[in-house]
Amino acid sequence: AMIALRQLLDHAAEHGYGVPAFNINNMEQIHAIMQAAAETASPVILQASAGARGYAGEAFLRHMVAAAVEEWPDIPVCLHQDHGASPAVCQQAIRSGFTSVMMDGSLKEDMKTPASYAYNVAITRRVVEMAHAVGVSVEGELGCLGSLETGRAGEEDGVGAEGALDHGQMLTDPTQAADFVAATGVDALAVAIGTSHGAYKFTRPPTGDILDIARIAAIHQRIPDTHLVMHGSSSVPQEWLAIIREHGGEIGETYGVPVEAIVAGIRNGVRKVNIDTDLRLAMTGAMRRLLHEDRKEFDPRKVFRAATAAARDICRARFEAFGCAGQA
Ligand code: G3H
Ligand code: 13P
Ligand code: NA
Ligand code: ZN
Repeated sequence: AMIALRQLLDHAAEHGYGVPAFNINNMEQIHAIMQAAAETASPVILQASAGARGYAGEAFLRHMVAAAVEEWPDIPVCLHQDHGASPAVCQQAIRSGFTSVMMDGSLKEDMKTPASYAYNVAITRRVVEMAHAVGVSVEGELGCLGSLETGRAGEEDGVGAEGALDHGQMLTDPTQAADFVAATGVDALAVAIGTSHGAYKFTRPPTGDILDIARIAAIHQRIPDTHLVMHGSSSVPQEWLAIIREHGGEIGETYGVPVEAIVAGIRNGVRKVNIDTDLRLAMTGAMRRLLHEDRKEFDPRKVFRAATAAARDICRARFEAFGCAGQA
């Protein structure tokens, strides 16, 4: 059944676990997430970006998610708009049956230019009024996501500040977070604590102080009823990078957020953990390997099945690590 983000994360907070929010664009990704959720009895957040709606088409996305709910009736499913750039995008998602929307007012509508605090408050509050009127939850974002190591937002997927960021812009201020929540009424808040989008987060294996976990605790203390969200939470599995390289892919040396760091975040109040890149890497690795090793193969179902299985294994591991398994 469908569930709003607020109800799903209230349960997660009550029981001290985190919920991975995986990005969806096609049937294979939805299959992978739902199969892993069914195997582990986990509740699910399926999130779709504006890019995903453009890729699949609004009706296809909507009907594929409806099919997932029909096929797995016992799994609670939240359908969430990822990085809404404007109230119009959020409104379209609500019309499309989403049970949660993110208004990302940390950036202007171009999703590249850091926006003022006043802009963020005003635009997010508008979306909260619109969404809450129909029982839809809202996630806001405060602070500009960026790697504390590289000072970059990881703009390769088109969501993130352009150019170099300074530490002040990148880290969410706990006092401002409390003010933001009081002014907007958001259900969930994405915080900047040193993660960034995409595959190129860190140039070396991250050490203990590269993510500001203490800041999560400080924010959580001030806004205990607002669920904290960690974007840019792919771990960038080295084994999948190796498989991609072994089978003709070119991907530079790079490191992601270790699962243990995410678990530390969950212990300190993170409830929603956004993951897209890891599924992209696993699916690409599995498809490259299959096509390279079985050069006579031309049935796409075999290729996509391998991709689905690879993504499913990542999902299952995250459901288990985040304490989400058994909570459905
Ligand atoms: O940052 C958000 C997700 O990684 C979605 O990326 O806009 O390419 O679909 P996308
Ligand atoms: P990754 O690029 O680390 O998977 O982050 C995805 C994300 O934050 C989507 O909003
Ligand atoms: Na992105
Ligand atoms: Zn994000």
